[in-house]
Amino acid sequence: MRPSKTKSSQGNAKSLQTRHNPADPVPPHAGLKQLSETAAACRACDLWKLATQTVFGEGSPTSKVMFVGEQPGDYEDRVGRPFVGPAGKLLDKALAEAGIDRSTVYVTNVVKHFKWAAGERGEKRIHKKPRYSEIQACLPWLDAELDAVRPEVLVCLGATAAQSLLGKDFRVSQRRGEFVESQLAPCVMATVHPSSILRARDDESGHEQMQQFIADLRKIGRLLEKDKKKAA
Ligand code: URA
Repeated sequence: MRPSKTKSSQGNAKSLQTRHNPADPVPPHAGLKQLSETAAACRACDLWKLATQTVFGEGSPTSKVMFVGEQPGDYEDRVGRPFVGPAGKLLDKALAEAGIDRSTVYVTNVVKHFKWAAGERGEKRIHKKPRYSEIQACLPWLDAELDAVRPEVLVCLGATAAQSLLGKDFRVSQRRGEFVESQLAPCVMATVHPSSILRARDDESGHEQMQQFIADLRKIGRLLEKDKKKAA
């Protein structure tokens, strides 16, 4: 299932459709540590001005699965790690239910800075969706993460990740839980973003959405199991 060397040496930039900018701060062929250190000073768009820090991806370079969300949330922005706030806790729970150990996966976001606006009374930081230009500015980092990790399974969490990686016409509502063709990894799936489950209108709907999310993740768990058995 591992991506071939040929694909890696070509990089993922073509598939991600990033427009390469010679002023691009991403060091070529870098490992995750160097990428993360360099991304800490990224000024490719203006989001750094609002954010506390860059929140780079986290996980082992040998991870077989990479999860990609939209952007760090309020909690992640303060702590400096992806998916450690309420959405991250829900993701952890769903992963555990699906038999996937979070410590074995790589978790990252399309955009590495928290975009927010002050709430009406000023004390809350309200999440704002990143613009197309901000996503484009940040995609070279994700591209570099994909090259460094070369996951066997790539999972897009929510519409921003799915449309950034699989095309703007991709509809998570229609194709969630499906393995789709992509050059980015041998197995690619999009599912809902865990924060959408946190916004469910009531407990019953939240429970149902959680079960569907776990069912999507179980497909990945089964794939990993099959691969493990093949390798044994
Ligand atoms: N939502 C995301 O998309 N990513 C995070 O890291 C946290 C919340």
